[in-house]
Amino acid sequence: MGETYIQSLFAERLGGAMFGKETKIYKFEKIKRAKRAAMASHPGVPLIDLGVGEPDEMAFPGVVKKLQKEAEKPENRGYADNGIQEFKEAAARYLARVYGVKGIHPETEVLHGIGSKPVLAMLPSIFINPGDVTLMTVPGYPVMATHTRWYGGSVHALPLTEENGFLPDLDAVPADVRKKAKLLYLNYPNNPTGAGATRAFFEKVVRLAKENSIIVVQDAAYSALMYGSKPLSFLSVPGAKDVGVEIHSLSKAYNMTGWRLAFVAGNERVIAGYGTVKDNYDSGQFKAIQKAGVYALDHPEITDRIKAKYERRLRSLVATLNEMGFEARMPAGTFYLYVRMPKGVKGGRRFASAEEFSEYLITEQLISTVPWDDAGPYIRFSATFEANGRAGEKRVLAEFKKRMSGLQFEF
Ligand SMILES: Cc1ncc(COP(=O)(O)O)c(C=O)c1O
Repeated sequence: MGETYIQSLFAERLGGAMFGKETKIYKFEKIKRAKRAAMASHPGVPLIDLGVGEPDEMAFPGVVKKLQKEAEKPENRGYADNGIQEFKEAAARYLARVYGVKGIHPETEVLHGIGSKPVLAMLPSIFINPGDVTLMTVPGYPVMATHTRWYGGSVHALPLTEENGFLPDLDAVPADVRKKAKLLYLNYPNNPTGAGATRAFFEKVVRLAKENSIIVVQDAAYSALMYGSKPLSFLSVPGAKDVGVEIHSLSKAYNMTGWRLAFVAGNERVIAGYGTVKDNYDSGQFKAIQKAGVYALDHPEITDRIKAKYERRLRSLVATLNEMGFEARMPAGTFYLYVRMPKGVKGGRRFASAEEFSEYLITEQLISTVPWDDAGPYIRFSATFEANGRAGEKRVLAEFKKRMSGLQFEF
């Protein structure tokens, strides 16, 4: 079928009449293609997939059982609208128990989301008018940036560099940008750098937000996965509730990515705006899933068990990479390890970008990673690779070491 008038009707935000005709191949598509090609040219050699951004295991049995039971009850069948009270109360309890955040009012300061991604997608529609600015940490999860642009706003990047502990330098934001800025996106512990925020940093954020009338959105998708220090909530800092919200997700902390459940908590006006927008997008997550979510939030020891596995795997990856000459350090949180790429391999390939290095690893050694070139060339290894039990995990890590040892890197 030839081109119809439909092609000419696409909104400019999606590229207008050029929609779907873009020939540039994006990073993740390139990785997928390189993966397919490498597997085809090395039949029988297993891929070591360290590029995945989601848990390798199922939700815990108690959570699954709760869903089974609740799914059978007629009272759970209908629209959930802006959520059930039990889930909001469980969210407030969870914030108090895990993060020491007291005084969150379930009625006015908490709402659920069908995962944190749609919450991030909706927030710009509450505040962004054409010409407004969203401050975004880079590299990072880009959803709020995309939607800011779709509403005619613009995005000011805050680069995360090693010298700054992967925390943004807020003082470096020019005065005219600060004036136009309405939203500040933070994500700690951070994907992809694995860095954690400090209380002092969050305190500074509250101060700057107040001085410049900016709303803070702290994406806490990985917050409960902290190694060596206690999880830190932005909402535990005095004044945080006056300037912003924090979004918590059950995806990573409870192995529930496919279930789609999150909550946003904090400033009552932001929550009210989100409620209005959300009510016009969806009719709420299935009540049985929300009730299973209540069970999960009341059992944070599940996260401790998940965390122990990632910590074990990350320590092994760090040790192997350091033996190869990388400068790998145990991340403060998340399940990611973010390391600077080597310049090349001895007597051979030079790498001009992390994307090239990542492509080399997949092509030569069938090791899949995610490259980031936004603020220096780094690659991200994820501890969520699939493995058959503890013995399987050991085998994957030993195989990773064997394949990496076959390469001699130059830094
Ligand atoms: C930083 C960050 N925020 C949010 C999300 C989305 O999570 P959810 O499953 O809650 O939508 C992800 C998923 O990878 C993420 O990495």
